Amino acid sequence: MAEERRVAVLDTPDDVASQAAIEFEVRARAAIDEHGWFAVALSGGKTPAAFHSLLASPKYADDIDWPNIHFFWADERCVPPDDERSNYKQALDALLAPLRIPEANVHRMRGELEPHAGALDYCAQLHKFFGETIRFDAIYLGLGDDGHTASLFPGNAALDERETLCVAVHAPENKVAPWRLTLTYPVLNGARSALFLVDGERKATVLARVLEGPSDVHALPAQGVSPKRGSLIWLVDNAAATQLRSRV
Ligand code: 6PG
Repeated sequence: MAEERRVAVLDTPDDVASQAAIEFEVRARAAIDEHGWFAVALSGGKTPAAFHSLLASPKYADDIDWPNIHFFWADERCVPPDDERSNYKQALDALLAPLRIPEANVHRMRGELEPHAGALDYCAQLHKFFGETIRFDAIYLGLGDDGHTASLFPGNAALDERETLCVAVHAPENKVAPWRLTLTYPVLNGARSALFLVDGERKATVLARVLEGPSDVHALPAQGVSPKRGSLIWLVDNAAATQLRSRV
């Protein structure tokens, strides 16, 4: 069980993005004070776009100690880094390029490699940065309509991975880019904080199942995220929260 579990219901998708940016700044400051850097993993999809742009806006551009922020990814589509489907490219355009984040601070999953080689490469990158124990300061995640998070899809063997840090998975057929690279539960649950960003009415049913339904990690992989010595924070908008029984 996570040490702290919080579900914040916010009015609009913009409020979700604002709260995500506030959490980023607070957590970055605390991590840098404590150990000198802030290691954060980002996700792809539509939801984080506003959050990424907000971080590059003057309010945050000027206040955050960017040279000490290190960017990683929770998952990546197996496409080249200049492909519109690339999670790295999405963050590059909205956040990394506008803020001129140095290359040494950007630890991307190499989606252009053969998927299994890409996963091995990322395991090596993680060890190179963290050493033996992989402990992210924050991991930002999304929630798919089918209950997936990162690229941990319902019924996939990656859900049972207990040792390997990053694996290649073949996503269900209707997903953008069939091959994916994803961090596994040992990494997600070793983080200091995992933050889910969820908005929109189409997420209402799955959000209620994940947060309040019976536990079934194989059917709803997002339920498997619960940092053992860390925080689990859900930032959701009103539209996504309509089917929750308890609204904290
Ligand atoms: C990806 C993801 C994925 C995403 C969810 C939610 O690369 O697609 O990282 O896990 O977070 O599918 O996506 P939306 O924000 O588009 O709903």
